[in-house]
Amino acid sequence: MNEKFYLTTAIDYVNGAPHIGHAYEKILSDVIIRHKRQLTDKAFMLTGTDEHGIKIQKTAAARGIEPKQLCDENFSKFEKAWQELEISYDKIIRTTDEQHKKVVKQIFKKLLENGDIYKHSYTGLYCSGCESFLSPKDLTSDGLCPDHLKKPEEITEENYFFRLSKYKDKLIEYIKTHPGFIMPSFRVNEILNQLENIEDISVSRTKTAVKWAIDVPDDDEQSIYVWIDALSNYITAIGYDTENPSEQFKELWPADVQVIGKDIIKFHSIYWTAILMSLGLPLPKTILAHGWITIDESKMSKSLGNVIAPHDVLESFKLEHPDAFRYYMASAAPIGRDGNYSDEDFKEKVNADLANNIGNLLNRTLNMLVKYFDGEIKAESITDKNSKIAQYAQNAKNQIIESFNNYEIAEAAGIIVSFADFVNKYVTETAPWTLAKEGKMQECSEVLYNVLEAMRHIGIMLYPFCPNISKDILIQLNEDLDFKYDKLEWGIIKEGKITDKEKIKPVFLRLDSEFAIDKKKGK
Ligand code: MSP
Repeated sequence: MNEKFYLTTAIDYVNGAPHIGHAYEKILSDVIIRHKRQLTDKAFMLTGTDEHGIKIQKTAAARGIEPKQLCDENFSKFEKAWQELEISYDKIIRTTDEQHKKVVKQIFKKLLENGDIYKHSYTGLYCSGCESFLSPKDLTSDGLCPDHLKKPEEITEENYFFRLSKYKDKLIEYIKTHPGFIMPSFRVNEILNQLENIEDISVSRTKTAVKWAIDVPDDDEQSIYVWIDALSNYITAIGYDTENPSEQFKELWPADVQVIGKDIIKFHSIYWTAILMSLGLPLPKTILAHGWITIDESKMSKSLGNVIAPHDVLESFKLEHPDAFRYYMASAAPIGRDGNYSDEDFKEKVNADLANNIGNLLNRTLNMLVKYFDGEIKAESITDKNSKIAQYAQNAKNQIIESFNNYEIAEAAGIIVSFADFVNKYVTETAPWTLAKEGKMQECSEVLYNVLEAMRHIGIMLYPFCPNISKDILIQLNEDLDFKYDKLEWGIIKEGKITDKEKIKPVFLRLDSEFAIDKKKGK
Protein backbone atom coordinates (compact mmCIF):
# COMPACT_ATOMS: atom_id res chain seq x y z
CA MET A 1 0.00 0.00 0.00
CA ASN A 2 1.27 3.44 -0.80
CA GLU A 3 -2.02 5.29 -0.74
CA LYS A 4 -2.38 8.71 0.82
CA PHE A 5 -3.89 8.94 4.29
CA TYR A 6 -5.09 12.27 5.64
CA LEU A 7 -5.99 12.54 9.33
CA THR A 8 -7.27 15.63 11.13
CA THR A 9 -7.91 16.27 14.83
CA ALA A 10 -10.28 18.77 16.40
CA ILE A 11 -8.62 22.14 16.91
CA ASP A 12 -8.48 23.13 20.57
CA TYR A 13 -9.80 26.36 22.06
CA VAL A 14 -6.94 28.44 23.35
CA ASN A 15 -8.79 30.03 26.25
CA GLY A 16 -6.90 27.71 28.59
CA ALA A 17 -4.01 25.26 28.73
CA PRO A 18 -4.07 21.69 27.39
CA HIS A 19 -5.30 18.93 29.70
CA ILE A 20 -5.21 15.17 29.39
CA GLY A 21 -8.60 15.15 27.62
CA HIS A 22 -7.11 17.16 24.76
CA ALA A 23 -4.05 14.93 24.98
CA TYR A 24 -6.18 11.78 24.66
CA GLU A 25 -7.42 12.86 21.23
CA LYS A 26 -4.00 13.90 19.98
CA ILE A 27 -2.43 10.65 21.21
CA LEU A 28 -5.12 8.49 19.57
CA SER A 29 -4.59 10.44 16.35
CA ASP A 30 -0.83 10.17 16.55
CA VAL A 31 -1.00 6.43 17.14
CA ILE A 32 -3.19 6.07 14.04
CA ILE A 33 -0.94 8.21 11.85
CA ARG A 34 2.25 6.49 13.02
CA HIS A 35 0.67 3.14 12.19
CA LYS A 36 -0.32 4.40 8.73
CA ARG A 37 3.23 5.63 8.18
CA GLN A 38 4.37 2.06 8.78
CA LEU A 39 2.38 1.19 5.66
CA THR A 40 2.62 4.24 3.41
CA ASP A 41 4.89 7.23 2.81
CA LYS A 42 1.92 9.51 2.21
CA ALA A 43 0.31 9.80 5.61
CA PHE A 44 -0.41 13.36 6.75
CA MET A 45 -1.65 14.56 10.13
CA LEU A 46 -3.14 17.97 10.79
CA THR A 47 -3.85 19.48 14.19
CA GLY A 48 -4.32 23.04 15.36
CA THR A 49 -5.92 25.64 17.58
CA ASP A 50 -9.30 27.38 17.42
CA GLU A 51 -8.55 30.99 18.31
CA HIS A 52 -11.61 33.15 17.59
CA GLY A 53 -14.97 33.61 19.27
CA ILE A 54 -16.71 35.07 22.27
CA LYS A 55 -15.14 32.61 24.73
CA ILE A 56 -11.62 33.79 23.92
CA GLN A 57 -12.72 37.42 23.69
CA LYS A 58 -14.21 37.18 27.20
CA THR A 59 -11.25 35.35 28.77
CA ALA A 60 -8.83 37.91 27.35
CA ALA A 61 -11.02 40.81 28.51
CA ALA A 62 -11.19 39.34 32.03
CA ARG A 63 -7.39 39.28 32.11
CA GLY A 64 -7.16 42.75 30.62
CA ILE A 65 -5.11 41.60 27.62
CA GLU A 66 -5.65 41.54 23.86
CA PRO A 67 -7.21 38.31 22.53
CA LYS A 68 -4.20 37.70 20.28
CA GLN A 69 -1.87 37.81 23.27
CA LEU A 70 -3.99 35.19 25.03
CA CYS A 71 -3.95 33.07 21.87
CA ASP A 72 -0.16 33.35 21.53
CA GLU A 73 0.41 32.40 25.16
CA ASN A 74 -1.86 29.40 25.09
CA PHE A 75 -0.90 28.27 21.61
CA SER A 76 2.68 27.86 22.88
CA LYS A 77 1.39 25.70 25.72
CA PHE A 78 -0.42 23.41 23.29
CA GLU A 79 2.56 23.28 20.98
CA LYS A 80 4.88 22.44 23.87
CA ALA A 81 2.55 19.77 25.21
CA TRP A 82 2.34 18.08 21.80
CA GLN A 83 6.12 18.16 21.48
CA GLU A 84 6.49 16.60 24.90
CA LEU A 85 4.04 13.85 23.95
CA GLU A 86 5.85 13.38 20.62
CA ILE A 87 2.73 14.06 18.56
CA SER A 88 4.13 13.80 15.06
CA TYR A 89 1.77 16.13 13.21
CA ASP A 90 2.76 17.35 9.77
CA LYS A 91 1.07 20.69 10.23
CA ILE A 92 -0.38 22.70 13.10
CA ILE A 93 -2.80 25.42 12.01
CA ARG A 94 -3.95 28.43 13.98
CA THR A 95 -7.23 30.00 12.91
CA THR A 96 -5.60 33.41 13.31
CA ASP A 97 -3.18 32.54 10.45
CA GLU A 98 -3.60 35.06 7.62
CA GLN A 99 -3.99 32.43 4.90
CA HIS A 100 -6.73 30.68 6.87
CA LYS A 101 -8.62 33.95 7.43
CA LYS A 102 -8.42 34.80 3.74
CA VAL A 103 -9.83 31.46 2.62
CA VAL A 104 -12.60 31.43 5.25
CA LYS A 105 -13.84 34.69 3.73
CA GLN A 106 -13.75 33.09 0.28
CA ILE A 107 -15.71 30.12 1.59
CA PHE A 108 -18.34 32.42 3.13
CA LYS A 109 -18.61 34.31 -0.15
CA LYS A 110 -19.00 31.13 -2.15
CA LEU A 111 -21.81 29.90 0.13
CA LEU A 112 -23.52 33.28 -0.33
CA GLU A 113 -23.12 33.13 -4.10
CA ASN A 114 -24.58 29.61 -4.08
CA GLY A 115 -27.67 31.01 -2.39
CA ASP A 116 -27.02 28.91 0.72
CA ILE A 117 -26.51 31.93 2.99
CA TYR A 118 -29.22 34.54 3.55
CA LYS A 119 -29.91 37.33 6.11
CA HIS A 120 -32.55 36.90 8.77
CA SER A 121 -33.53 38.40 12.14
CA TYR A 122 -33.41 35.94 14.99
CA THR A 123 -33.83 35.49 18.73
CA GLY A 124 -32.07 32.58 20.35
CA LEU A 125 -30.30 31.18 23.39
CA TYR A 126 -26.52 31.27 23.02
CA CYS A 127 -24.11 29.20 25.12
CA SER A 128 -20.61 30.66 24.91
CA GLY A 129 -19.16 27.39 26.30
CA CYS A 130 -20.48 25.54 23.23
CA GLU A 131 -20.13 28.61 20.99
CA SER A 132 -23.56 27.63 19.75
CA PHE A 133 -27.27 28.48 19.90
CA LEU A 134 -29.24 25.92 21.88
CA SER A 135 -32.86 25.02 21.45
CA PRO A 136 -35.01 25.27 24.63
CA LYS A 137 -35.55 21.51 24.52
CA ASP A 138 -31.77 20.90 24.77
CA LEU A 139 -31.62 22.60 28.19
CA THR A 140 -31.76 21.01 31.65
CA SER A 141 -34.93 21.43 33.73
CA ASP A 142 -33.28 24.50 35.31
CA GLY A 143 -32.76 26.06 31.90
CA LEU A 144 -28.99 25.40 31.81
CA CYS A 145 -26.73 24.13 29.02
CA PRO A 146 -26.35 20.40 29.79
CA ASP A 147 -22.61 20.40 28.96
CA HIS A 148 -21.53 23.63 30.64
CA LEU A 149 -24.21 23.94 33.35
CA LYS A 150 -24.54 27.63 32.59
CA LYS A 151 -27.57 29.68 31.64
CA PRO A 152 -27.41 30.56 27.94
CA GLU A 153 -27.78 34.21 26.97
CA GLU A 154 -30.86 35.37 25.04
CA ILE A 155 -29.77 37.14 21.90
CA THR A 156 -31.76 38.97 19.23
CA GLU A 157 -29.79 39.85 16.13
CA GLU A 158 -30.00 40.11 12.41
CA ASN A 159 -27.55 37.48 11.21
CA TYR A 160 -26.59 35.54 8.14
CA PHE A 161 -28.09 32.06 8.06
CA PHE A 162 -26.91 28.90 6.35
CA ARG A 163 -29.59 26.84 4.60
CA LEU A 164 -28.90 23.63 6.51
CA SER A 165 -32.48 22.44 5.99
CA LYS A 166 -31.83 22.25 2.23
CA TYR A 167 -29.26 19.49 2.86
CA LYS A 168 -31.33 17.50 5.35
CA ASP A 169 -32.55 14.74 3.00
CA LYS A 170 -29.23 14.48 1.19
CA LEU A 171 -27.39 14.11 4.51
CA ILE A 172 -29.78 11.49 5.84
CA GLU A 173 -29.43 9.53 2.63
CA TYR A 174 -25.63 9.82 2.71
CA ILE A 175 -25.33 8.67 6.32
CA LYS A 176 -27.66 5.73 5.71
CA THR A 177 -25.80 4.56 2.62
CA HIS A 178 -22.26 5.02 4.02
CA PRO A 179 -21.89 2.75 7.05
CA GLY A 180 -18.29 3.77 7.89
CA PHE A 181 -18.98 7.49 7.67
CA ILE A 182 -19.78 8.01 11.35
CA MET A 183 -17.79 5.81 13.68
CA PRO A 184 -18.39 4.13 16.02
CA SER A 185 -21.70 3.10 14.46
CA PHE A 186 -23.60 3.39 17.75
CA ARG A 187 -23.54 7.17 17.19
CA VAL A 188 -25.41 7.02 13.88
CA ASN A 189 -28.96 7.01 15.25
CA GLU A 190 -28.29 9.98 17.48
CA ILE A 191 -27.25 11.98 14.41
CA LEU A 192 -30.15 10.78 12.30
CA ASN A 193 -32.53 11.86 15.09
CA GLN A 194 -30.94 15.30 15.27
CA LEU A 195 -31.23 15.62 11.51
CA GLU A 196 -34.99 15.04 11.67
CA ASN A 197 -35.43 18.38 13.49
CA ILE A 198 -32.68 20.33 11.80
CA GLU A 199 -33.17 24.04 11.10
CA ASP A 200 -31.08 26.63 9.29
CA ILE A 201 -28.21 27.92 11.45
CA SER A 202 -26.90 31.37 12.14
CA VAL A 203 -23.41 31.72 10.65
CA SER A 204 -22.56 35.26 11.71
CA ARG A 205 -22.77 37.52 14.75
CA THR A 206 -22.89 41.27 15.00
CA LYS A 207 -19.45 42.79 15.52
CA THR A 208 -20.74 44.54 18.62
CA ALA A 209 -21.43 41.11 20.13
CA VAL A 210 -18.36 39.28 18.79
CA LYS A 211 -15.44 41.40 17.75
CA TRP A 212 -12.77 38.71 17.92
CA ALA A 213 -13.66 36.88 14.72
CA ILE A 214 -13.11 36.92 10.97
CA ASP A 215 -15.08 39.68 9.24
CA VAL A 216 -17.96 38.83 6.92
CA PRO A 217 -16.77 39.96 3.49
CA ASP A 218 -18.37 43.20 2.26
CA ASP A 219 -20.29 43.80 5.50
CA ASP A 220 -18.93 46.14 8.17
CA GLU A 221 -21.27 44.96 10.87
CA GLN A 222 -21.03 41.20 10.94
CA SER A 223 -18.38 38.66 11.89
CA ILE A 224 -18.22 35.02 10.81
CA TYR A 225 -19.53 32.40 13.26
CA VAL A 226 -16.60 30.69 14.95
CA TRP A 227 -17.65 27.16 13.97
CA ILE A 228 -17.68 28.03 10.25
CA ASP A 229 -14.20 29.48 10.73
CA ALA A 230 -13.00 26.49 12.78
CA LEU A 231 -14.40 23.70 10.60
CA SER A 232 -12.84 25.25 7.50
CA ASN A 233 -9.36 24.64 8.95
CA TYR A 234 -9.43 21.08 7.64
CA ILE A 235 -9.23 22.37 4.08
CA THR A 236 -7.57 25.77 4.44
CA ALA A 237 -4.57 24.15 6.15
CA ILE A 238 -3.77 22.05 3.11
CA GLY A 239 -4.20 24.81 0.55
CA TYR A 240 -7.89 24.91 -0.32
CA ASP A 241 -8.86 28.01 -2.24
CA THR A 242 -12.21 28.43 -3.97
CA GLU A 243 -10.47 29.60 -7.15
CA ASN A 244 -7.23 27.74 -7.22
CA PRO A 245 -6.80 24.85 -4.78
CA SER A 246 -3.23 23.64 -4.22
CA GLU A 247 -1.76 20.35 -5.41
CA GLN A 248 -1.52 19.27 -1.79
CA PHE A 249 -5.24 19.84 -1.34
CA LYS A 250 -6.02 17.85 -4.48
CA GLU A 251 -3.85 15.02 -3.22
CA LEU A 252 -5.07 14.90 0.39
CA TRP A 253 -8.77 15.81 0.35
CA PRO A 254 -11.12 14.14 1.28
CA ALA A 255 -9.77 13.33 4.72
CA ASP A 256 -9.58 9.65 5.51
CA VAL A 257 -10.42 10.22 9.14
CA GLN A 258 -11.45 13.25 11.16
CA VAL A 259 -10.87 12.52 14.84
CA ILE A 260 -13.09 14.47 17.24
CA GLY A 261 -14.73 14.14 20.65
CA LYS A 262 -18.29 12.90 21.08
CA ASP A 263 -19.45 16.38 22.19
CA ILE A 264 -18.81 17.96 18.78
CA ILE A 265 -20.13 15.25 16.52
CA LYS A 266 -23.14 17.33 15.41
CA PHE A 267 -20.89 20.13 14.15
CA HIS A 268 -18.89 17.65 12.11
CA SER A 269 -21.39 15.17 10.80
CA ILE A 270 -24.12 17.73 10.09
CA TYR A 271 -22.81 21.29 9.74
CA TRP A 272 -19.45 20.46 8.20
CA THR A 273 -20.81 17.91 5.77
CA ALA A 274 -23.51 20.33 4.57
CA ILE A 275 -20.88 23.03 4.03
CA LEU A 276 -18.78 20.59 2.02
CA MET A 277 -21.82 19.66 -0.06
CA SER A 278 -22.50 23.32 -0.72
CA LEU A 279 -18.87 23.86 -1.76
CA GLY A 280 -19.14 20.85 -4.06
CA LEU A 281 -16.35 19.00 -2.23
CA PRO A 282 -16.27 15.29 -1.37
CA LEU A 283 -17.05 14.30 2.22
CA PRO A 284 -14.48 12.81 4.61
CA LYS A 285 -14.41 9.02 4.62
CA THR A 286 -14.84 8.74 8.37
CA ILE A 287 -15.75 10.98 11.26
CA LEU A 288 -14.39 9.22 14.31
CA ALA A 289 -15.94 10.34 17.60
CA HIS A 290 -13.96 9.28 20.66
CA GLY A 291 -15.26 9.25 24.22
CA TRP A 292 -14.19 11.47 27.07
CA ILE A 293 -11.51 11.02 29.70
CA THR A 294 -12.62 11.31 33.30
CA ILE A 295 -10.34 11.64 36.34
CA ASP A 296 -10.88 9.07 39.06
CA GLU A 297 -14.31 8.55 37.45
CA SER A 298 -15.31 12.27 37.65
CA LYS A 299 -15.68 14.79 34.85
CA MET A 300 -12.59 16.98 34.58
CA SER A 301 -13.44 20.58 35.39
CA LYS A 302 -11.88 23.75 36.70
CA SER A 303 -14.56 24.03 39.38
CA LEU A 304 -13.77 20.54 40.70
CA GLY A 305 -10.09 21.42 40.61
CA ASN A 306 -9.22 18.07 39.06
CA VAL A 307 -7.79 19.20 35.72
CA ILE A 308 -4.57 17.34 34.92
CA ALA A 309 -2.08 18.59 32.36
CA PRO A 310 -0.19 15.92 30.43
CA HIS A 311 3.05 17.43 31.70
CA ASP A 312 1.93 16.78 35.32
CA VAL A 313 1.79 13.05 34.66
CA LEU A 314 5.21 12.90 32.99
CA GLU A 315 6.65 15.06 35.74
CA SER A 316 5.16 13.25 38.72
CA PHE A 317 6.36 9.85 37.49
CA LYS A 318 9.68 11.34 36.29
CA LEU A 319 9.17 9.70 32.93
CA GLU A 320 12.10 10.01 30.53
CA HIS A 321 9.78 9.88 27.54
CA PRO A 322 6.01 9.95 27.01
CA ASP A 323 5.65 6.30 25.94
CA ALA A 324 4.01 4.95 29.10
CA PHE A 325 1.46 7.76 29.14
CA ARG A 326 0.81 7.43 25.42
CA TYR A 327 0.30 3.70 25.79
CA TYR A 328 -2.04 4.11 28.75
CA MET A 329 -4.12 6.80 27.09
CA ALA A 330 -4.40 5.00 23.77
CA SER A 331 -5.63 1.86 25.57
CA ALA A 332 -7.89 3.75 27.98
CA ALA A 333 -11.19 2.72 26.37
CA PRO A 334 -12.72 0.98 23.37
CA ILE A 335 -13.16 3.64 20.71
CA GLY A 336 -16.10 5.94 21.36
CA ARG A 337 -16.47 4.97 25.02
CA ASP A 338 -15.33 7.08 27.93
CA GLY A 339 -12.03 6.21 29.60
CA ASN A 340 -10.66 7.05 32.99
CA TYR A 341 -7.31 8.21 34.29
CA SER A 342 -6.06 7.38 37.77
CA ASP A 343 -2.43 7.40 38.97
CA GLU A 344 -2.77 3.95 40.52
CA ASP A 345 -4.28 2.37 37.44
CA PHE A 346 -1.70 4.04 35.22
CA LYS A 347 1.15 2.61 37.28
CA GLU A 348 -0.39 -0.83 37.43
CA LYS A 349 -1.12 -1.06 33.71
CA VAL A 350 2.22 0.15 32.41
CA ASN A 351 4.14 -1.94 34.95
CA ALA A 352 2.20 -5.05 33.96
CA ASP A 353 2.28 -4.58 30.19
CA LEU A 354 5.42 -2.61 29.38
CA ALA A 355 7.80 -3.48 32.23
CA ASN A 356 6.84 -7.05 33.13
CA ASN A 357 5.27 -8.53 30.07
CA ILE A 358 7.39 -6.96 27.33
CA GLY A 359 10.49 -5.45 29.00
CA ASN A 360 11.36 -8.42 31.24
CA LEU A 361 10.82 -10.91 28.47
CA LEU A 362 13.41 -9.21 26.28
CA ASN A 363 15.81 -8.74 29.17
CA ARG A 364 15.67 -12.35 30.35
CA THR A 365 16.07 -13.70 26.84
CA LEU A 366 19.07 -11.53 26.00
CA ASN A 367 20.69 -12.56 29.28
CA MET A 368 20.21 -16.22 28.38
CA LEU A 369 21.66 -15.58 24.92
CA VAL A 370 24.77 -14.12 26.56
CA LYS A 371 24.99 -16.86 29.17
CA TYR A 372 24.58 -19.84 26.83
CA PHE A 373 25.77 -18.52 23.48
CA ASP A 374 28.00 -15.55 24.23
CA GLY A 375 25.34 -13.20 22.80
CA GLU A 376 25.46 -14.84 19.41
CA ILE A 377 22.81 -16.17 17.03
CA LYS A 378 24.02 -19.31 15.28
CA ALA A 379 23.00 -19.97 11.68
CA GLU A 380 21.44 -23.30 12.67
CA SER A 381 19.19 -21.70 15.30
CA ILE A 382 17.26 -19.60 12.77
CA THR A 383 13.74 -21.03 12.59
CA ASP A 384 11.34 -20.92 9.68
CA LYS A 385 8.02 -19.19 9.25
CA ASN A 386 6.03 -22.34 9.83
CA SER A 387 6.77 -22.48 13.54
CA LYS A 388 3.82 -21.89 15.87
CA ILE A 389 5.29 -18.64 17.12
CA ALA A 390 5.97 -17.31 13.60
CA GLN A 391 2.37 -18.08 12.66
CA TYR A 392 1.15 -16.27 15.75
CA ALA A 393 3.23 -13.23 14.75
CA GLN A 394 1.75 -13.25 11.26
CA ASN A 395 -1.81 -13.45 12.61
CA ALA A 396 -1.15 -10.72 15.13
CA LYS A 397 0.14 -8.47 12.35
CA ASN A 398 -3.02 -9.01 10.27
CA GLN A 399 -5.27 -8.48 13.25
CA ILE A 400 -3.51 -5.23 14.15
CA ILE A 401 -3.97 -3.89 10.62
CA GLU A 402 -7.63 -4.88 10.78
CA SER A 403 -8.08 -3.20 14.18
CA PHE A 404 -6.52 0.01 12.92
CA ASN A 405 -8.74 -0.09 9.82
CA ASN A 406 -11.69 -0.11 12.21
CA TYR A 407 -10.01 2.49 14.45
CA GLU A 408 -10.02 0.03 17.35
CA ILE A 409 -6.85 1.41 18.87
CA ALA A 410 -7.14 -0.08 22.34
CA GLU A 411 -7.77 -3.49 20.74
CA ALA A 412 -4.61 -3.14 18.65
CA ALA A 413 -2.63 -2.53 21.85
CA GLY A 414 -4.33 -5.57 23.39
CA ILE A 415 -3.21 -7.77 20.48
CA ILE A 416 0.42 -6.81 21.08
CA VAL A 417 0.18 -7.55 24.79
CA SER A 418 -1.52 -10.90 24.10
CA PHE A 419 1.31 -11.75 21.74
CA ALA A 420 3.83 -10.98 24.49
CA ASP A 421 1.74 -13.14 26.88
CA PHE A 422 1.88 -15.97 24.39
CA VAL A 423 5.65 -15.66 24.09
CA ASN A 424 6.05 -15.56 27.87
CA LYS A 425 4.06 -18.79 28.14
CA TYR A 426 6.17 -20.32 25.39
CA VAL A 427 9.31 -19.53 27.39
CA THR A 428 7.83 -21.05 30.54
CA GLU A 429 6.75 -24.18 28.65
CA THR A 430 9.96 -24.72 26.70
CA ALA A 431 12.17 -23.74 29.70
CA PRO A 432 15.36 -22.87 27.76
CA TRP A 433 17.35 -22.88 31.05
CA THR A 434 16.46 -26.57 31.51
CA LEU A 435 17.34 -27.32 27.89
CA ALA A 436 20.74 -25.70 28.47
CA LYS A 437 21.26 -27.64 31.67
CA GLU A 438 20.47 -30.86 29.84
CA GLY A 439 22.91 -29.94 27.09
CA LYS A 440 20.17 -29.63 24.43
CA MET A 441 21.87 -26.59 22.94
CA GLN A 442 20.33 -26.75 19.48
CA GLU A 443 16.81 -26.76 20.90
CA CYS A 444 17.73 -24.07 23.41
CA SER A 445 19.12 -21.77 20.72
CA GLU A 446 16.00 -22.23 18.57
CA VAL A 447 13.78 -21.25 21.49
CA LEU A 448 15.86 -18.12 22.11
CA TYR A 449 15.79 -17.26 18.42
CA ASN A 450 12.01 -17.60 18.35
CA VAL A 451 11.63 -15.33 21.35
CA LEU A 452 14.01 -12.67 20.03
CA GLU A 453 12.41 -12.67 16.61
CA ALA A 454 9.00 -12.34 18.30
CA MET A 455 10.40 -9.43 20.33
CA ARG A 456 11.56 -7.77 17.13
CA HIS A 457 8.00 -8.04 15.83
CA ILE A 458 6.66 -6.63 19.09
CA GLY A 459 9.15 -3.76 18.86
CA ILE A 460 7.75 -2.80 15.46
CA MET A 461 4.11 -3.37 16.40
CA LEU A 462 4.44 -1.24 19.53
CA TYR A 463 5.99 1.67 17.63
CA PRO A 464 2.82 3.78 17.10
CA PHE A 465 2.12 3.67 20.84
CA CYS A 466 5.64 3.73 22.28
CA PRO A 467 8.14 5.03 19.73
CA ASN A 468 11.00 5.25 22.25
CA ILE A 469 10.58 1.83 23.78
CA SER A 470 10.26 0.36 20.29
CA LYS A 471 13.50 2.00 19.29
CA ASP A 472 15.22 0.62 22.39
CA ILE A 473 13.91 -2.87 21.68
CA LEU A 474 15.41 -2.79 18.19
CA ILE A 475 18.67 -1.33 19.54
CA GLN A 476 18.86 -4.15 22.11
CA LEU A 477 18.42 -6.60 19.24
CA ASN A 478 21.08 -4.82 17.19
CA GLU A 479 18.56 -4.27 14.39
CA ASP A 480 18.08 -1.30 12.04
CA LEU A 481 15.59 1.30 13.24
CA ASP A 482 13.11 0.59 10.49
CA PHE A 483 9.51 0.32 11.69
CA LYS A 484 7.83 -0.32 8.35
CA TYR A 485 5.37 -3.19 8.24
CA ASP A 486 7.30 -4.96 5.50
CA LYS A 487 9.81 -5.80 8.26
CA LEU A 488 7.14 -7.95 9.89
CA GLU A 489 8.44 -11.05 8.14
CA TRP A 490 9.86 -13.99 10.01
CA GLY A 491 13.62 -14.56 10.02
CA ILE A 492 15.04 -11.04 9.74
CA ILE A 493 17.44 -11.46 12.69
CA LYS A 494 20.51 -12.99 11.09
CA GLU A 495 23.38 -15.05 12.47
CA GLY A 496 26.09 -13.22 14.36
CA LYS A 497 26.76 -11.57 17.70
CA ILE A 498 23.96 -9.25 18.72
CA THR A 499 24.80 -8.32 22.30
CA ASP A 500 27.00 -8.79 25.36
CA LYS A 501 26.59 -8.39 29.11
CA GLU A 502 27.37 -4.65 29.12
CA LYS A 503 24.95 -3.80 26.36
CA ILE A 504 21.86 -5.33 27.93
CA LYS A 505 19.61 -2.66 29.42
CA PRO A 506 15.96 -2.71 30.46
CA VAL A 507 13.78 -1.01 27.83
CA PHE A 508 11.22 0.10 30.40
CA LEU A 509 11.69 0.42 34.15
CA ARG A 510 8.82 -0.41 36.47
CA LEU A 511 7.41 2.81 37.89
CA ASP A 512 8.52 2.93 41.53
CA SER A 513 11.16 0.26 40.96
CA GLU A 514 14.47 0.88 42.71
CA PHE A 515 16.01 2.05 39.46
CA ALA A 516 13.14 4.40 38.81
CA ILE A 517 13.30 5.76 42.37
CA ASP A 518 17.02 6.39 41.95
CA LYS A 519 16.28 8.25 38.77
CA LYS A 520 13.75 10.40 40.57
CA LYS A 521 16.39 11.23 43.15
CA GLY A 522 18.69 12.17 40.30
CA LYS A 523 21.28 9.42 40.97
N1 MSP B 1 -12.62 24.22 19.20
C1 MSP B 1 -13.56 23.17 19.23
C2 MSP B 1 -13.31 22.16 18.13
C3 MSP B 1 -13.30 22.73 16.75
S1 MSP B 1 -12.93 21.52 15.57
C4 MSP B 1 -13.16 22.26 14.13
C5 MSP B 1 -13.47 22.45 20.59
N2 MSP B 1 -12.37 22.70 21.31
S2 MSP B 1 -12.07 22.06 22.75
O1 MSP B 1 -10.79 22.59 23.14
O2 MSP B 1 -13.17 22.26 23.63
O3 MSP B 1 -11.96 20.53 22.52
C6 MSP B 1 -11.03 20.02 21.58
C7 MSP B 1 -11.16 18.50 21.49
O4 MSP B 1 -10.81 17.93 22.75
C8 MSP B 1 -12.59 18.06 21.18
O5 MSP B 1 -12.59 17.01 20.24
C9 MSP B 1 -13.10 17.58 22.51
O6 MSP B 1 -14.06 16.56 22.41
C10 MSP B 1 -11.82 17.05 23.13
N3 MSP B 1 -11.91 17.00 24.58
C11 MSP B 1 -12.06 18.04 25.46
N4 MSP B 1 -12.14 17.54 26.72
C12 MSP B 1 -12.05 16.19 26.69
C13 MSP B 1 -12.00 15.16 27.63
N5 MSP B 1 -12.12 15.37 28.93
N6 MSP B 1 -11.77 13.90 27.18
C14 MSP B 1 -11.55 13.62 25.86
N7 MSP B 1 -11.62 14.56 24.93
C15 MSP B 1 -11.96 15.85 25.31
O7 MSP B 1 -14.37 21.70 20.90
